Amino acid sequence: MRVAIVEGDGIGREVIPAAVEVLDVLGLPIEKVPLELGYGKWEKCGIAIDDNDLDVLKSCDCVLFGAITTPPDPNYKSVLLTIRKELDMYANIRPIKPLPGVTGVTGRSDFDFVIVRENTEGMYSSIEEFHEDVSYTKRVVSRKGSERIAKTACRLAKERHNDLTIVHKSNVLKSDNMFLNTCREVAESENVGHRDMLVDAMAYSLMTYPERYDVVVTTNLFGDILSDMSAALVGSLGLAPSANIGDKYAFFEPVHGSGPDIAGKGIANPIAAILSMKMMLEWMGLQKEADIVEEAVGRCITEKITTPDLGGSASTIEVGRAIADHVRNMLDG
Ligand code: NAD
Ligand code: IPM
Ligand code: MN
Repeated sequence: MRVAIVEGDGIGREVIPAAVEVLDVLGLPIEKVPLELGYGKWEKCGIAIDDNDLDVLKSCDCVLFGAITTPPDPNYKSVLLTIRKELDMYANIRPIKPLPGVTGVTGRSDFDFVIVRENTEGMYSSIEEFHEDVSYTKRVVSRKGSERIAKTACRLAKERHNDLTIVHKSNVLKSDNMFLNTCREVAESENVGHRDMLVDAMAYSLMTYPERYDVVVTTNLFGDILSDMSAALVGSLGLAPSANIGDKYAFFEPVHGSGPDIAGKGIANPIAAILSMKMMLEWMGLQKEADIVEEAVGRCITEKITTPDLGGSASTIEVGRAIADHVRNMLDG
C-alpha cells in the first residue's frame, strides 16, 4: 500500500505526525509518500495544488490528510474540493460515536450514528458568478450523484441497524426533491427502513434525540454543518474522524480544520486524526489493527491523558505518544 501523507496547514502539521507515530508502531508494509499542499504552499509558490500533486495522489492507494486553510479569496480554489472532485470521492463518511469517559454538550453517551455526506455536488459545485451587487452559487443535485450516495448509505445501514434518515430541505430547495425521491427509491429497492427529515428540524432532533439515528444521508453543505454540530455530542471537534470514499480512491481526514486559534501551541487534540487513520486501516481490510487503535484511544482518554479541549493539560505529542504506547503494549501482550 502507498499512502500519501498530507499534513497541510495549521494544526494539520501537529495532528498528522501524531497519527503517523501510531501508524508506525503497527509495523505495517505501508509506503508513506509525503506531499506538501495547501495555503502555506500557495503563499510560497502561488499555487496550493498542481497537476503533479494530483498525479502523486492518484499514484497512491489512499491519503492521510490533516487540514488546509481555505481563505475566502475567490482566486483561491479549495484544495480539498479539488481533490474530492478529481479523485471522485463522492461519499464522506462521518461516524458520530461516543468515546469512553467523555460526554459532550448533552452529557449523554447512548447514541451511535453515521453521517453520510454527498461529497461532490450540492452547494459545492464551484459554479459561481460574482458581480458588483450580486453573486450566485449554483446548487447541483443530480440523479447519478444522489443514487450513488444513497447506495453507499444503504450498504452501511444494512451492516448496522437498517435504518436510514434522509435529510433535505425540499420544502424550499426544490432541487432536493431529486435527492429525496432518489434516496427513497434506493432504500425501497434495497429493503432499508427509511424516513426523511427537513434539515432544520434534524439539527434540533440530533441534539435532543441522538439515540434515534443510525445512518443519516444528506447533501454536501447540510452534511458539513451537521457533522461539526454532532461532534459537540461526542465532546470535541478534535474527536471527529472522517473518510472520503470513491470507487477507486479514499482519503482520510479529521472533520476539523486548520485551527488557526490554537495552531503552533502544541495543544490540538490528535484523536480525530488518529481515528481517521483507524478508518483508513478498516478501508484496507485491517480490522484487527483498527480495533487496537480504537482501544488504545479509549485507554488514553480513560487515563485522562487529554488535551485542553477535553479539560486536560496534555500536549498533542503526549496524547499521540500515550496512544502509540498503548498500541505497542497491546501488540506485545
Ligand atoms: P476549525 O475546525 O479549524 O476550528 C473550529 C474550532 O474548533 C476552533 O476553536 C479550534 O481551535 C477547535 N478545534 C478544531 N480542531 C481541534 C482539535 N483537533 N483539537 C482541539 N480543538 C480543535 O474551523 P475554522 O476555524 O472555522 O477553520 C479554520 C480553517 O480551516 C479555515 O480556513 C477553513 O476553511 C479550514 N477548514 C479546513 C478543513 C479541512 O482541511 N478538512 C475543515 C474545516 C475547515
Ligand atoms: C470539511 C471542511 C471543508 C468542507 C472545507 C474546508 C472545504 O469544512 O471537510 O468539513 O466544507 O467540506
Ligand atoms: Mn466542515
